[in-house]
Amino acid sequence: MPDLRYERVRKVFHTRNVEVVALNDVSFVIFEGELFCLLGPSGCGKTTLLRCTAGLERLDGGRIYYGDTDFTAIPPFRRGIGMVFQNYALYPHMTVYDNVAYPLRIRKLPRGEIDRRVREIMELVGLPGVLRRNPSELSGGQQQRVALARALVYRPRLLLLDEPLANLDAKLKVYMRTEIRRIQKQAKVTTLYVTHDQQEAMAIADRLGVMEGGVVRQIGTPSEIYDDPANEFVAGFIGEMNFFPARIISWEGDKLVVAVGAAQKRKALRAGIKAFGDEVTVALRPEHLRIFPSTSGEGVFKGKVRVVQFLGKFVRYQVAISGDAGLVEVDMPAAVPGLQEGDEAVLDFDPRDMLVFYAGERVA
Ligand SMILES: Nc1ncnc2c1ncn2[C@@H]1O[C@H](COP(=O)(O)OP(=O)(O)OP(=O)(O)O)[C@@H](O)[C@H]1O
Ligand SMILES: [Mg+2]
Repeated sequence: MPDLRYERVRKVFHTRNVEVVALNDVSFVIFEGELFCLLGPSGCGKTTLLRCTAGLERLDGGRIYYGDTDFTAIPPFRRGIGMVFQNYALYPHMTVYDNVAYPLRIRKLPRGEIDRRVREIMELVGLPGVLRRNPSELSGGQQQRVALARALVYRPRLLLLDEPLANLDAKLKVYMRTEIRRIQKQAKVTTLYVTHDQQEAMAIADRLGVMEGGVVRQIGTPSEIYDDPANEFVAGFIGEMNFFPARIISWEGDKLVVAVGAAQKRKALRAGIKAFGDEVTVALRPEHLRIFPSTSGEGVFKGKVRVVQFLGKFVRYQVAISGDAGLVEVDMPAAVPGLQEGDEAVLDFDPRDMLVFYAGERVA
């Protein structure tokens, strides 16, 4: 069941004489109980979409539905939304208890009920022992839990999180993202989580939407987005990717044949694509390239090994290939015998692993 539905949502900001289209016909749904991540570079419109959902910004077009209700007609305080912002925004002069109790007090719940709910939610976020402290006496991760408790204590229908881990150090980030997912699933609250950190999004999302310049470029599960990017932007934004210029030789029935490096490779065309130009881009993940010494045969690309890094589970080779300025990254499960920094090497790949883009859109 879709819980939250965005239909052609549009938001335009006017500052002086400049018009910024922050959201350009954004449409997607979030399902009940889902943890949905919005991911994209700075300025792409993530916070604006959260603010529109919360009713803090007016739409310039489109609609947001909660179930069958038109959300846009409901004032912010009646939308039943819990929000956590990047900078926690706890009240510094209040104890943790009073911070968390605050949303219940303004809703005039009986004192006993408030007490029960505050203790219950602090148990859920894993901090039952700090109720009498002030926020300044807590670590960053603990403050973040309190902010989450305060957002959840009145049992909102929707939880909106805007870069909730941005202020934490790298190790705590990794720990807290798992905690947020645990708490979200236990509270069974439909959640929209905004981040520009792709690892964070991939790690916790049920599904995610990748945004660029006010447009949602792809929606899918983390593995769909990683394995099957719909366009060059998503391919380059998520995970590591090598891009190579290539040329179309022909298309035979449902197969596309491209010239890439010194080879010709063929791959099944995606259905529904008719327009072709000469120039295309071939993209390959580091784990989909293979490297071997140039003495042991021909490959698609020739180059010189610049860096060899042992990264635990795999070995990364950075290779300068001829005719190209950038370094190609290749991940091998183990070190290749007889291949060291400074050596000539060749690269090859299985054409089933290559992604082909024409004018930025995926064609094979
Ligand atoms: N109140 C405003 N007035 C004018 N322009 C705004 C306003 N709020 C946002 N914008 C513009 O709208 C665009 C989207 O901004 P938004 O804050 O939604 O980006 P974001 O994806 O959250 O970025 P970040 O990752 O940096 O937080 C940006 O170009 C921004 O400059
Ligand atoms: Mg933002």
